[in-house]
Amino acid sequence: MQKNENSNVFKASWIYDEAPESIDHIQIKKKYELFIDGKFTKPVKGNYFDTINPSNNQKIASVAEASDEDVDKAVKAAREAFLGWSNLSGKERGKYIFRIARLIQERAREFAVIESLDGGKPIRESRDIDIPLAANHFFYYAGWADKLAYAFPNRTAKPLGVVGQIIPWNFPLLMASWKLAPALSAGNTIVLKPAETTPLTALKLAEIIQESGLPKGVINIVTGAGETGASIVNHPDIDKIAFTGSTGVGKYIQKAIAGTPKKLTLELGGKGANIIFEDAAIDQAVEGIVNAIFFNQGHVCCAGSRLFVQESVADLVIQKLKNRMETLIVGNPLDKNTDIGAINSKKQLQTIENYIKIGLNEGGEIYQTKCTLPKEGNWCAPTLFLNVSQSHRIVQEEIFGPVLAIQTFRTIDEVIEKANNTPYGLSAGVWTQTGSKIFHITQKLNAGVIWANTFNKFDPTSPFGGYKESGFGREGGLHGLSSYVKFE
Ligand code: NAI
Ligand code: MG
Repeated sequence: MQKNENSNVFKASWIYDEAPESIDHIQIKKKYELFIDGKFTKPVKGNYFDTINPSNNQKIASVAEASDEDVDKAVKAAREAFLGWSNLSGKERGKYIFRIARLIQERAREFAVIESLDGGKPIRESRDIDIPLAANHFFYYAGWADKLAYAFPNRTAKPLGVVGQIIPWNFPLLMASWKLAPALSAGNTIVLKPAETTPLTALKLAEIIQESGLPKGVINIVTGAGETGASIVNHPDIDKIAFTGSTGVGKYIQKAIAGTPKKLTLELGGKGANIIFEDAAIDQAVEGIVNAIFFNQGHVCCAGSRLFVQESVADLVIQKLKNRMETLIVGNPLDKNTDIGAINSKKQLQTIENYIKIGLNEGGEIYQTKCTLPKEGNWCAPTLFLNVSQSHRIVQEEIFGPVLAIQTFRTIDEVIEKANNTPYGLSAGVWTQTGSKIFHITQKLNAGVIWANTFNKFDPTSPFGGYKESGFGREGGLHGLSSYVKFE
């Protein structure tokens, strides 16, 4: 990547095969303000923080830190906008949402580059998955806006009011879209906070929102870290909090709003079981294992971070998996050949490295892709652990990195028991050519999302969410819409 110091413009055209003129220069500002009441606004206290490029740990831009006063301004703007927005006909609301979707599509390349620059994910993923899916969420919920009466027959669905949305750093624009699109469709107004390590695509989205002509105050985007999040959570004039992030913060929010009328949905961590039966198509299953745990450096709440292989095929699967791991390219997120990008932050890298130490201390047998990691930035080679059991911490706790814990099993009952034996209940995958086995096991697995002969597939029409410590409430589909309405 070449950077022109004077204009603070990143040249990124070589990322794409066709290198069209329109993406020759990706505009990144030196300083970003808060998006409140339709305008970019300086923070009251004048504080800014740096957002970093995790592939070299260099600063990309300064970003405003919202204090209680700024959050209060944003909530007031959202409250002010609520009556107008919720009384607009569904058809009109849908048009605005549709326009936002179109603008994301038009500027998809710019979004993809910024996402990879700010968060470290491979450009191939930002370009082919995150950004198109983000646009698709807006398209999908644009379609519901004038169909609420059909969505909830025999009941009158009303918006909740002002919604506070707090999102994580693993899928920044996509998580913003999961939250914003259904809330808008149902007629709510919003204060959204992106994660402090990846605020740039949400701020780019703010520019698009301005361009779309969305009435001011309907979406407000405030940046900052946990304190800004807490001031949204604790603001008395917010009707609902929607949160995606760590189980620890989820629990904090649950306690903080206890006894208030605020509604809550939580999408928290996971420890997904990926189960390979002996009759699976083995090569496809190995691809599926790689995708399940190494997609987005394993920064995925529904990652298949526990692998269960039926004993009779375990040696074969593990050998093929190790071979495949040797072909993975770890490096520059902006290179279109990269499979594994940078770990999102120094802090997250420390967490992952600490878990690798724990795994070794507990007697696990490690295997890592043999590769030279770049000197600067935050990197972790794809890693697997053999010789682990249910009681090991790396089997029970979310690592949120490219680290897979492998166990074997003999019977279906044994694997069901083991798969369900963690505090989480978000995702699972099953690989078998026998349809009846899929129907049997999916009834017994305690996971909100279960994939059969695939993994990590997402679609706006499908509800997504967890059980147990993975949280409650669903995003996507009609379920996702119902999280943003009340009935009269
Ligand atoms: P986090 O839960 O602290 O961050 C998520 C969001 O919550 C960010 O926007 C953050 O600013 C905000 N936040 C932090 N403290 C808050 C508070 N007291 N009140 C309101 N908002 C607050 O996650 P973190 O520390 O970045 O990652 C730690 C671990 O959490 C990861 O290792 C992973 O295991 C898990 N995680 C899970 C995610 C998921 O998709 N389920 C996403 C991100 C992290
Ligand atoms: Mg960053």
